[in-house]
Amino acid sequence: MSTTGAADGDEVCAVAPGRVVLIGDHTDYVGGLVLPMAIDLATEVRGRRGGRTVELTSDQFDGVARFDVPLSDPRTAHPDWARHVAGVAAVIGTSTGFTGAVSSTVPPGSGLSSSAAIGLALALALGATGDAATLARACRQAEELATGVPCGIMDQLCIAAGVEGHALLIDCATETHRAVAVPEGVAVWIVESGQTRQLSTSPYAERRRQAETAASLLGPIRTASLDRIAELDDDVLRRRARHVRSECDRVEAFAEALANEEIAQLGPLISASHRSLRDDAEVSTLVLDELVTTLEARPGVFGARLTGAGFGGSVVALTEPDVDLSDAGAGGRRVQPSPGAHLR
Ligand code: GLA
Repeated sequence: MSTTGAADGDEVCAVAPGRVVLIGDHTDYVGGLVLPMAIDLATEVRGRRGGRTVELTSDQFDGVARFDVPLSDPRTAHPDWARHVAGVAAVIGTSTGFTGAVSSTVPPGSGLSSSAAIGLALALALGATGDAATLARACRQAEELATGVPCGIMDQLCIAAGVEGHALLIDCATETHRAVAVPEGVAVWIVESGQTRQLSTSPYAERRRQAETAASLLGPIRTASLDRIAELDDDVLRRRARHVRSECDRVEAFAEALANEEIAQLGPLISASHRSLRDDAEVSTLVLDELVTTLEARPGVFGARLTGAGFGGSVVALTEPDVDLSDAGAGGRRVQPSPGAHLR
């Protein structure tokens, strides 16, 4: 891909937000619909381009990521977090080095796309150019190369294309997106469960394979008929397909309700999404389920669901504006819909 930007030696600062998925999980890797939102927790990469060595420190991870470019196999980079850096350097094909520091307020392992935020910030810092979809595709590929996790396009595209005050309705089949305003009457809270996890050691890849197998029998699941899904012999494939099909319908309904400020519609849709992720996609945990139930019992909470890949991580709750969930779970934080990755 093409790289450009500041001349060697100039200081560069690139910022990329984390993201929360309001609705639409475990659908992106089979061409489904998703509705994530870039948030005001972000990763910053600051430093200078030049030479033939990439050398970065991090305020979240130990050790220095140091390797020479161009680079052939990013999986050999050490320490672990350096693989994300090396994956991006390899995919964008840079032969110019970079010396600097990564700092981040996106907690790792919480389902808020901390690694995609590092990827996008780095890509911009190293000089990658292109539209949001081009940058997102490169960073998705880098992530898979570095970690082996066959993730979909949602996180990177949301982080690349985020719009202040808006969530993004993404059609993952066409990789196109539309910004949908988040109404003033809705507050978005992220509540950490305290259960951290790494996608590479979770059943994420297995869930993806199962959904892809269902799609190979049904064609695009998003438009498959409910009767055909119900006729699938294999119980697991039937439930995975039912999740994708029903979640895409919920994403569409949710986006319409947001756009029309029909706030009363939002809660039931995200509660139904959590049940589907729990029962059909089977990506929830007892801790996440209990947290969702506790949150939904609190006054002023419209609804709650796990957000992102699941298997631990965080829950997203939509509430009335004056609700305070900072004491919930392992800690709650109200987040604002924020702009996507950019050079500062
Ligand atoms: C992770 C992946 C995404 C997506 C979600 C689940 O965040 O990186 O591509 O599959 O899980 O919706």
